[in-house]
Amino acid sequence: MTSTTEPGPDAPSGAGPSKIPIDLTGVSETMLATLRARAEDAAKPAPFLGDTWAKTVLDQLDWHHPPTKSDYYFNAFVVGRGKLLDRWTCEFLAEHAADDGGVTVLHLACGLDSRALRIDDWRTRARWIDVDVPEVMALRRRVLPDLPEGGDYRMLQADVTSADWLEQIPADRPTLVIMEGLLMYLEWDDIVALLRRICDRFPSGQILADVLGRRFIARQSELEVISSTGAVMKTGIDSASELAAAHEKLRVREETGPWNRMGPGLFPWYLRLVMYILSWMPRFRSVNSDMRLDF
Ligand SMILES: C[S@@+](CC[C@H](N)C(=O)[O-])C[C@H]1O[C@@H](n2cnc3c(N)ncnc32)[C@H](O)[C@@H]1O
Repeated sequence: MTSTTEPGPDAPSGAGPSKIPIDLTGVSETMLATLRARAEDAAKPAPFLGDTWAKTVLDQLDWHHPPTKSDYYFNAFVVGRGKLLDRWTCEFLAEHAADDGGVTVLHLACGLDSRALRIDDWRTRARWIDVDVPEVMALRRRVLPDLPEGGDYRMLQADVTSADWLEQIPADRPTLVIMEGLLMYLEWDDIVALLRRICDRFPSGQILADVLGRRFIARQSELEVISSTGAVMKTGIDSASELAAAHEKLRVREETGPWNRMGPGLFPWYLRLVMYILSWMPRFRSVNSDMRLDF
């Protein structure tokens, strides 16, 4: 279902003397660390996610970040969640394949992620909208092409905590809302308001999100690759039921811990074994979860 689209002739040229200077800080800058994680994975002999666009994009940026101790685990967690959310996206598309009117995919906090290019089978039946704050979308327009193979695709700049941005999105179809690497940076009240707006606006759909638990948020300074940007993670979530409580339409479909992101090839067997054992311990189970909720 998920396939990697090779950068084609429409792709930006990549490395060269005139790299784009980066003046992002804080939460906007965090999307460069996740981009680098995907680029490094793609450069491996046996990639886990295999996002070849990530390296094409990273090569255009004048951004250098010194390695940190947490990079190894951070990178693995990022490509693991990327692959899981790609799979869930494909499953939503497949479930609605027979719908006459098609679906909408709303990819919030997209950063420089090329999910719409990685997943190649949505164009005939979906409208896809990538959303992030203005400074990120301005950069995105410079480094990622409009979809080479067409499709109903749009980029939208918006602060998703604002009250009115959703009015720009047609509410005529079942809608998949992907929030990868977003909720931990929002205040809890803004998360609840966002979920309520989504459920009130669209007739039905699904929400995909990864969250960090309260224990992790309390120790966030140890994740140097993120804390060095100045970004502050504001909200820990330990269970999908906390999100489901935001609106009467929300139903938890699935909630998984890091163990479920980890296919063979991402971590050596002994680390996978440790993660499997930790996944049975309540203290660790909620450190980092992926969840999908129907509405
Ligand atoms: C950790 S990055 C994740 C980017 C991308 N999803 C990925 O996995 O590479 C966090 C992203 O959230 C975006 N973001 C944070 N707050 C936002 C808001 N209020 N509205 C829209 N985007 C926001 C940032 O600009 C940034 O691109």
